[in-house]
Amino acid sequence: MILVFGGTGTIGGAVLRQVAASGTPARAAVRSPERAGALTGPATETVVADLADPGTLAPALDGVGAVFLASPGSADQVELEGNLVTAAAEAGVPVVKLAALGYDAAPPEEAIRFGANHARVVQRLRDSGVPFTVLAPSGFMSNFLANAAGVRDGVLYGSAGDGGVAWIDPDDVGAVAAHVLTTDGHEGASYALTGPEVLTFAQVAERLAEVTGHDVRYVDVPGPDFEQSLRSAGLDEWTAAAVTELHQLYRTHASEVVTDEVQKATGRAPRSLADWLAANGEAFTG
Ligand SMILES: NC(=O)c1ccc[n+]([C@@H]2O[C@H](COP(=O)([O-])OP(=O)(O)OC[C@H]3O[C@@H](n4cnc5c(N)ncnc54)[C@H](OP(=O)(O)O)[C@@H]3O)[C@@H](O)[C@H]2O)c1
Repeated sequence: MILVFGGTGTIGGAVLRQVAASGTPARAAVRSPERAGALTGPATETVVADLADPGTLAPALDGVGAVFLASPGSADQVELEGNLVTAAAEAGVPVVKLAALGYDAAPPEEAIRFGANHARVVQRLRDSGVPFTVLAPSGFMSNFLANAAGVRDGVLYGSAGDGGVAWIDPDDVGAVAAHVLTTDGHEGASYALTGPEVLTFAQVAERLAEVTGHDVRYVDVPGPDFEQSLRSAGLDEWTAAAVTELHQLYRTHASEVVTDEVQKATGRAPRSLADWLAANGEAFTG
């Protein structure tokens, strides 16, 4: 039995689908009974467990062979995921943690806040003695769904300059996670996961133009203005600052990394943005 956190979200849902495809039973952790209806993948069973409520974690881990840990970037992510690390160590259940490309080890001095969170959780895993594996993916192709309204109006906003990212299909992250969760030999490993090609935001805009059939241009917004626009769009202060920091990192070309880990784990090439848009393009045209 695999326990999956984040099953109502992007990667956790993909993990549930891929674990189900492997024939392994999965238990989805949901924050309330009502959230079971929001799962984006199939589960053999559900359990109510909240990373913010340590008392719910030991029962959720009962009878489990491995746990997949994903939670949103936030000011309290280290504390929340740390609760699961503690519970998993007490139960002796191996953890597969979703981190981010470049942030699977001790926090670098200048780490962006999304990355520093992940690095601190990895440090807690190491300190706890629990067996663990880290998945460190690049930017998700699905991030562009948040830009769908702008793309329909012909604009893709960002603050990454001409910095590129080897965008990854979330289903590929789910496929690698399912492989790691259901096969042996991954203890202590860290897998840097990327899509097949580095694309700048301007190149993503070109691909979006192809799928929508109308012009889409990339508009590069200065960091402070970009952060303000994210807040105006409803993001909380921490998240708006964190996303802006991430774009400033992209701007330095530091994220222009391509790996072959998806191919090695799944036996097939990672999907391209064109593949992902072929399956999800209607979000940008509807
Ligand atoms: N986006 C990217 O490009 C990117 C790239 C690399 C790494 N990452 C990392 O990916 C992670 C986010 O993954 P995602 O995009 O799949 O997340 P997501 O779609 O935002 O979903 C978050 C999930 O976490 C659950 N959750 C939130 N608080 C919880 C709590 N207290 N207890 C239990 N579950 C809780 C949510 O449940 P509810 O539905 O109940 O809220 C939801 O299922 C972040 O750590 C981020 O740094 C993202």
